[in-house]
Amino acid sequence: MKILAIETSCDETAIALVEASGGLPRPRFKILENLVASQIKIHAPFGGVVPNLAKREHLKNLPLLWQRIMNNELGIRNKKSASKTITHNSKFIIPKIDLICVTVGPGLEPALWTGIEFSKELYSKLKTQNPKLKLIGVSHLSGHLYSFLLPSDKESLKSYGLNLKSLFPAIALIVSGGHTSLLLMKSLTSIKKIGETRDDAVGESFDKVARLLGLPYPGGPQIEKISKDGNPLAIEFPRPMIHQKNFDFSYSGLKTSVLYYLRDNKDADMADVAASFRQAAFDVLIKKTFRAAREFKARSIMVSGGVSASRELRKRFNKETKKSAKIKLLIPDLGFSTDNAAMIAAAGYINFLRKKNHKLEANGNLQI
Ligand code: KG4
Ligand code: ZN
Repeated sequence: MKILAIETSCDETAIALVEASGGLPRPRFKILENLVASQIKIHAPFGGVVPNLAKREHLKNLPLLWQRIMNNELGIRNKKSASKTITHNSKFIIPKIDLICVTVGPGLEPALWTGIEFSKELYSKLKTQNPKLKLIGVSHLSGHLYSFLLPSDKESLKSYGLNLKSLFPAIALIVSGGHTSLLLMKSLTSIKKIGETRDDAVGESFDKVARLLGLPYPGGPQIEKISKDGNPLAIEFPRPMIHQKNFDFSYSGLKTSVLYYLRDNKDADMADVAASFRQAAFDVLIKKTFRAAREFKARSIMVSGGVSASRELRKRFNKETKKSAKIKLLIPDLGFSTDNAAMIAAAGYINFLRKKNHKLEANGNLQI
């Protein structure tokens, strides 16, 4: 089935066209298009995402990305004729789509509405071509969760085949700008949250600490960059809740410790501060995820969300996984870690098959 997915929950406008097959026992995805228009430059001067600016940019970008999808589907990519304007009113050029998936939450509601309204419009246009077309709402978090199902750059659909049965039970860690959650997956569709942050999300703490260090938004990649020259053991920042038996997290205290450290050490080495902060933040993620994996006898660990784009976090998870030979580690390609629409197509496919669809209304606090 051909799926068109739309994602506008925060500051990335994303549209993907994905061919899904295999059903729930063996879901497979072939990425036909995966377009992301980033708004980072627009929000950077404000030090974070401004909801109404995000909405304005989504409204501008959505038709442009859709236009590109249609042009590419026509096979005119990289040809001279690509400059020809093709309107999506034309009957002949719209690819046959079976399912439209749109993110309905969690996220910024004005931004989410732009994607919902746009997909409703597309739905009524495309329905004339395919009366069986369906439109469903998808949780952004289930997008991150199921991103492990997407093929990596190196894998084609043909060679790609995860043996799903061998993965469960699994522990999934979602680490993004808005969430830090640990989930127990007994199967692809049996999902239970076992822990989450009690205050700031880990990505949010990277963004806030970067700001304290005078680095631009988004903070994660900036901290990653300057940490290269720093000593991660230079400063002993706290590891909040690391020894507690539960699977919850807390990141606001760690950020405050960095604030006090900078206040009391005017000549602090910024690279050391960044590297030591990152070390503390990741220590807790690693410790709690592996403890959960042991407790629930997990056969695999999945890590997703924007923070999993960190090469350091990937390295540390890899290293730790090697110690326990029986555990398989699944982290999607970098492009599927940060916000994208291919993951919404994957989650949409799974949820469509199990008839778990969300209302077509923006819900800033939607759960998985
Ligand atoms: O999943 P995502 O793209 O959007 C949300 O759903 O929030 O995650 C964005 C978050 C931001 O807080 C950003 O600073 C963080 O992911 N991030 C990173 C890195 N790249 C992005 N954090 C640490 N290291 C990175 N390399
Ligand atoms: Zn996200």
